[in-house]
Amino acid sequence: MGIAVLTFPLVGAYLAIVWLIWPIVNYFRDPKGLRKYQSLFFLSGITDLPYCYVSSRGFRSKSITEAHKNLNAPILRIGPNNLSFGDVSAIKDIYGHSTQCIKDLKYSITGGPHPNIFDVVDKRKHSEKRKRLSAAFAIKNLVNWEYKVADTTARLLHAFDQRCTAPLPSNCTTPAKDELTIDFNHWINLFTIEAINVIALSSKLGVLEQGDDLVTAQRMDKSTYKAHYRKAQNKAAFATSHFVWDYQNFHLLTSISKLFPRWRRIWGDAEPWKDVIYHQTVTRLNRYQNGEKLDDFFASLMETKSGEPYNLEFGEILGDVGAVIDAGADTTAIALTQVMELLIRHPAHLKTLREEVDAVFENETVALFDKVRNLPFLRACLDEAMRIIPPTSAGLPRRTPPEGAMILGEWIPGNTSVSMTAYATHHDPNVFLNPEEFNPHRWMDPAERKRMEPYFIPFSTGGRGCIGRNISYLEQTIMLASLVHRYEFALPSPEWKLERFEAFNLLMGKMPMKIWRRTDVPKGDLAISSGI
Ligand code: HEM
Ligand SMILES: *[C@@H]1O[C@H](CO)[C@@H](O)[C@H](O)[C@H]1NC(C)=O
Ligand SMILES: *[C@@H]1O[C@H](CO)[C@@H](O)[C@H](O)[C@H]1NC(C)=O
Ligand SMILES: *[C@@H]1O[C@H](CO)[C@@H](O)[C@H](O)[C@H]1NC(C)=O
Ligand SMILES: *[C@@H]1O[C@H](CO)[C@@H](O)[C@H](O)[C@H]1NC(C)=O
Ligand SMILES: *[C@@H]1O[C@H](CO)[C@@H](O)[C@H](O)[C@H]1NC(C)=O
Repeated sequence: MGIAVLTFPLVGAYLAIVWLIWPIVNYFRDPKGLRKYQSLFFLSGITDLPYCYVSSRGFRSKSITEAHKNLNAPILRIGPNNLSFGDVSAIKDIYGHSTQCIKDLKYSITGGPHPNIFDVVDKRKHSEKRKRLSAAFAIKNLVNWEYKVADTTARLLHAFDQRCTAPLPSNCTTPAKDELTIDFNHWINLFTIEAINVIALSSKLGVLEQGDDLVTAQRMDKSTYKAHYRKAQNKAAFATSHFVWDYQNFHLLTSISKLFPRWRRIWGDAEPWKDVIYHQTVTRLNRYQNGEKLDDFFASLMETKSGEPYNLEFGEILGDVGAVIDAGADTTAIALTQVMELLIRHPAHLKTLREEVDAVFENETVALFDKVRNLPFLRACLDEAMRIIPPTSAGLPRRTPPEGAMILGEWIPGNTSVSMTAYATHHDPNVFLNPEEFNPHRWMDPAERKRMEPYFIPFSTGGRGCIGRNISYLEQTIMLASLVHRYEFALPSPEWKLERFEAFNLLMGKMPMKIWRRTDVPKGDLAISSGI
């Protein structure tokens, strides 16, 4: 009792100094000269909490883009040590191949004990990892892996066939409730989860046959249990995005949040994510150790092309497997859900796409990559959907080197957190005419495409840009072509809205849909053969 009486005021005084007095003093001391930049909120120069609040509102990239525009500020202070840029010229300075900036401390804070390819900060360690994995992501393997994507696509089409309804009368725009037989976003997530596990680990989870995301998770003590794959991954990202923006206090804020039942439940749902990754990794490692020769991404973590073993530590293997299956599923699912919604809402573009796709289909059910990979309007639709709402819209935090760096023609002092959102980049009217308009045709003129491409950054850019870009296009291209060739779709109503929440990626809610077989194309039957 006596101790508590003493401790409370002491702790209180300590917190007041650390959280209140020192930040205010520092704000006025202004050792880095950041006070000259406008603040996102009036307290942003003193505390990170306003940014945590913006993040909790659900679409921080859009909020920040609007703030840059409304305040007419190319540089905004979003935290005491953090600047957001709102001018596309900053992209190459912050993210380009020759940038001096490195990934910000955030990545070490959310990363596991072994840095993985995604969150490792050290440039030398990163390039070692990147080199190893690049072998697996090379364009040659991409084509070798087409059969994995095609097979997984066929499995999704099989599930959709079973949920097809009668055609919607042409004078009707609102299908009956019981005709909305699929949640497209749910199914497409099951597809990308299955696809990345097959490509990376030769692992067939069976979620497309089950129709849900229940898989095996495994604790370090080898005991196993069933867990929801996507739910665990999403809740982990959701919870993290609320508290991570005060890096130093992330773990403290997380602990405090667990005092509240709602957050305790959310963190609890997130808990199995690491055990799912652990199970997937040890299962594949066992197969390798038992001498099975499998053609997948994991194999390139084990040996060089000529068969020399790398002998990596288990922690490193676990980290990089986790990075790939974490980064490789929901992003592509978001892109596909998004493009599907936009096409349904823009029937003229859907019609143009169908004509292009139908012209190359023969008797196949699943699109052949060779026939569809260079269809310009198909690619234009995919790119335009990722432009208008990038699946990873966020400003990816980078850190200036200790000696500082030139960004947007300004000298930015050392160790400052800097970023520019893909959302703001993709909505700059000087680069993308009428940026709010979904217009795939803007990509059809090669000269125009060339002009826009440096500012089209859904996969980020530079040395830390996405390594899975080509795999994602492989999946998206085959899937979208196959879907529009085989089916017609309808959303619940013209007024229906897709719900989103920006965690790290732009998570999406349900997309209920009516689906039926097209009557104007020959009905090929679906043969599902799987050798995996
Ligand atoms: C539409 C789909 C995708 C989008 C929008 C996307 C976006 C991104 C972005 C923006 C980054 C940079 C992240 C940062 O700086 O923090 C990134 C990195 C990464 N992505 Fe993707 N990605 C997609 C698909 C994939 C796929 C399919 C894979 C795996 C097969 C993958 C694996 C990775 C990895 C490993 C990194 C880290 C690369 C590095 O730091 O060297 N991504 N992705
Ligand atoms: C649509 O057309 C059919 C006949 O073609 C008619 O029976 C039906 O009432 C119409 N529905 C609406 C919503 O107008
Ligand atoms: C800004 O960066 C500092 C580290 O430089 C970090 O502690 C803080 O949490 C960051 N704040 C935001 C809003 O990103
Ligand atoms: C399509 O036709 C080709 C040759 O005309 C044939 O070899 C192939 O098996 C057919 N594929 C399907 C799915 O029917
Ligand atoms: C940046 O960090 C380095 C190492 O942590 C430190 O030595 C240096 O003084 C810092 N520079 C600034 C401008 O904060
Ligand atoms: C994707 O493929 C293109 C060639 O089509 C290649 O230039 C590029 O380096 C590949 N990107 C990645 C990240 O593997």
